[in-house]
Amino acid sequence: MKFTTKQAEITQLSTDCLVVGVHEGKRLSAVAETLDGAAGGFIHAILKDGDIKGKPGDTLLLRQVPGLACQRLLLVGCGNDHEIEPNVYGKILTAAGAAMNAAGIKRAVNTLATLPVKGRDLAWKVTELVRNAEHQAYRFNRFKKDPQECALHEQAVYCADKSDVTAAKDAVAVGQAIGAGQSLARDLGNLPGNICTPSYLADEAKRIEKHYDAVKVKVLDKKDITELKMGSFLSVARGSHEEPRLITLQYNGGNKGDQPQVLVGKGVTFDSGGISLKPGPAMDEMKYDMCGAASVLGTIVAIAEMKLPINVVGVIPATENLPGGSATKPGDVVVSMSGQSIEILNTDAEGRLILCDALTYAARFKPARIIDIATLTGACVIALGKHASGLLGNDEALVDDLLEAGKLSGDRAWNLPLWTEYDEQLKSNFADIPNISGGRDAGTITAACFLSRFTKDYHWAHLDIAGTAWLDGAEKGATGRPVPLLVQYLRSRC
Ligand code: BES
Ligand code: MN
Ligand code: ZN
Repeated sequence: MKFTTKQAEITQLSTDCLVVGVHEGKRLSAVAETLDGAAGGFIHAILKDGDIKGKPGDTLLLRQVPGLACQRLLLVGCGNDHEIEPNVYGKILTAAGAAMNAAGIKRAVNTLATLPVKGRDLAWKVTELVRNAEHQAYRFNRFKKDPQECALHEQAVYCADKSDVTAAKDAVAVGQAIGAGQSLARDLGNLPGNICTPSYLADEAKRIEKHYDAVKVKVLDKKDITELKMGSFLSVARGSHEEPRLITLQYNGGNKGDQPQVLVGKGVTFDSGGISLKPGPAMDEMKYDMCGAASVLGTIVAIAEMKLPINVVGVIPATENLPGGSATKPGDVVVSMSGQSIEILNTDAEGRLILCDALTYAARFKPARIIDIATLTGACVIALGKHASGLLGNDEALVDDLLEAGKLSGDRAWNLPLWTEYDEQLKSNFADIPNISGGRDAGTITAACFLSRFTKDYHWAHLDIAGTAWLDGAEKGATGRPVPLLVQYLRSRC
């Protein structure tokens, strides 16, 4: 979508559609009040008659409003509060976009960033407006003969004041950068396992490298991974004909020598469970098991677009998890790069097996902090559903910063405990550590406890995105989360 900013006499604006807020209790937003003045009380009369109640998400599309130059006026309900809650603001934006798309509107001037939002400044509102619009305009058309495009393809963000324009322009660029990163993450998540293979992810990283001078990519193949003694990572790839890849992206936006933030993303391009085969229903969804990797790639794109002054390293272990004659079997013992031996009691707990070696590998980048992102456990979907990512870590300050970034971006996470009582559930009679604990209790936490055995030397946190990375039902598909959270976190580091 194309975005511009607009500062002009609002009643004189000629556009396909002008988008303005109205509140419950027949109250108009400041912009709507100005328009109503020129329209001789037309909008007030509509509210009085009850054609729109003003609840968040209500919309009413009007044509040829007297006294106004715009062709259409879209009234959008903004609720009762004088200061709108940030999450309600998102709902309002989405409702406005949906109404415009349903009406086939191509161009609009959007005044919703002039609404007061609790604790948020203009830049935040504009960035969120743009990111939300990009998210709504996203379509996955790659395999469709008749691609469906979103009607709306140009929006001007209206600024009430001339002095707002510069900040709004910058905020538009930020929203577009995050939107682009999130769309890339969605594309990769939506691509099927027969196309989005480990080498496809590596090629994608190389495409990113070509595009941005500040990004350097290194791809290691099976031979290199073997030389690194990543016995745990390799054990997952054994059942597959597709070879694994270890992908590293270095984004150098900061000073040389500044310790990087390291992001490690689970890149299982299809998770059948391996010999511990998953049940058939919804197994197709396991093509999304590389959404951690996708969020790392998306985040790197977003921060490279924004030219963020920071150093960031992305590490992606990429593999399939399939059964086969040489696949790893339950009971097999492997030795990880860290030297710790692992008894693989369930080959479906493969994410942690690839992440542990990637986390050990990451030491060479001397991370300031390290965050792994993974569709790691079904238990996380049970615990938190689709609203919050699971967040666990060994460093309180890091966990707090990630929680805050989640709140600010609307891409929320929720902290779960990493107590030693949980860690004690990980006991093996045959190796240093088993890859699963005895029972199903606290599956998200025991998975993180496993990872914590490999991150003792770091300020480390883990995001379990099994629930948040995709939606099912009518909206089935990748969400691009937690790109907004990660970008917000990295911006807060600058
Ligand atoms: N990729 C899955 C986790 C998952 C499940 C993500 C459902 C999204 C939706 C992971 O590799 C897995 O299979 N985990 C097992 C762990 C168990 C064997 C301890 C799980 O959650 O069932
Ligand atoms: Mn699995
Ligand atoms: Zn998995």
